[in-house]
Amino acid sequence: MNILITGGAGFIGSHVVRRFVDNYQDYNIYNLDSLTYAGNLENLKDIDQKSNYNFIKGDIVDEYFINDLFKRIDFDGVIHLAAESHVDRSIEDPLAFVRTNIIGTVNLLNAAKNTWKKNYKDKLFYHVSTDEVYGSLGKDGLFTEETSYDPNSPYSASKASSDHFVRAYGETYGLPFVISNCSNNYGPYHFPEKLIPLFINNIIEKTPLPVYGDGKYTRDWLFVEDHSRAIDLVFHKGKNHETYNIGGFNEWQNIDLVKLLCEVMDKKLDRDVGTSQKLITYVKDRPGHDLRYAIDATKISKELGWKPSVTFEEGLEKTVDWYLSNTEWLNHVTSGGYKEYYKKMYS
Ligand code: NAD
Ligand code: DAU
Repeated sequence: MNILITGGAGFIGSHVVRRFVDNYQDYNIYNLDSLTYAGNLENLKDIDQKSNYNFIKGDIVDEYFINDLFKRIDFDGVIHLAAESHVDRSIEDPLAFVRTNIIGTVNLLNAAKNTWKKNYKDKLFYHVSTDEVYGSLGKDGLFTEETSYDPNSPYSASKASSDHFVRAYGETYGLPFVISNCSNNYGPYHFPEKLIPLFINNIIEKTPLPVYGDGKYTRDWLFVEDHSRAIDLVFHKGKNHETYNIGGFNEWQNIDLVKLLCEVMDKKLDRDVGTSQKLITYVKDRPGHDLRYAIDATKISKELGWKPSVTFEEGLEKTVDWYLSNTEWLNHVTSGGYKEYYKKMYS
């Protein structure tokens, strides 16, 4: 099998690439990534010499390049993760999200349809999406696969649009597809613009921890390797034309999560308990900030037998340990452009 994984140099993509390269040695894995600020080949240096791994640098927005790639390599499946993924950046520059998340996805769909349409048998387009397409929950309730789409940020609107295109290609052209919508991931190789890795880095550096608004926003956190295992299951066993919600059954208000992280970090760094909490600073809220996300993962659990394998406390400790023993990785990704980004967003 030739499997194309897009966005494989990013956070989740690198875990998926590693899992497929290690577990399926009879598959040829092609990692297609344009290496934006979020793409980093250091994320894959432990597997990049394996004989079933191939890296292709390219942009999914480049229609000519994508069509040519599908002509050159006979892909059996696509696992599409490449995206602009940070909500705050989408508020600054929505068009970048339209380009990659919508146009890039449609380019891939066209290339897959055009090269596969004579015989769709054993072909699959797997689109990896987010729970943010469902909008915001109030204090109660969970997102199911039947929840109506109601995106609130330019990021989630672009992901919702890409989901609709995937489904439309299934209905209109018969393209075999699956979609999964997952909650917030955390773990190793997470770029420090997102809450958990950003706060780990700031705690190490003893700089303020910028909590948006009153800190009472709620997210459902899942360890990235559990997401990667779910993607493996959905790719191999998911039903054509179906959607699967993936989540951690693990809701945390931001402020409680940040306090727990401070405690774990103080212990690991041999600092007096309470030291890092003093860095918490409430700052201006994110515009259009969704109050609460929470996933009902019953379908994937019942149909495919998936459930999270680590508790949040275990996952958070593994994550903190990883960052503390990979300071070189952290120093590389927080040098140069990162400093400009941080100044722009947080000053
Ligand atoms: P990320 O930002 O860490 O990685 C995105 C990757 O895509 C990077 O390697 C980047 O270089 C690549 N990329 C971006 N634009 C590209 C383009 N035009 N052409 C080719 N490559 C391009 O993202 P992530 O957090 O790993 O998320 C991966 C996918 O999972 C995304 O589709 C995201 O919407 C979805 N998702 C993320 C989360 C989460 O919590 N991070 C949760 C649910 C779903
Ligand atoms: O739910 C899945 C989504 O989770 C993915 O689709 C996105 O790609 C991913 O970025 C993530 O989106 P969030 O906006 O929930 O993640 P983020 O880490 O940016 O923020 C988590 C919460 O923390 C959110 O309520 C905003 C808050 N926050 C975030 C940052 C970066 C802060 O309070 N301060 C911060 O500096």
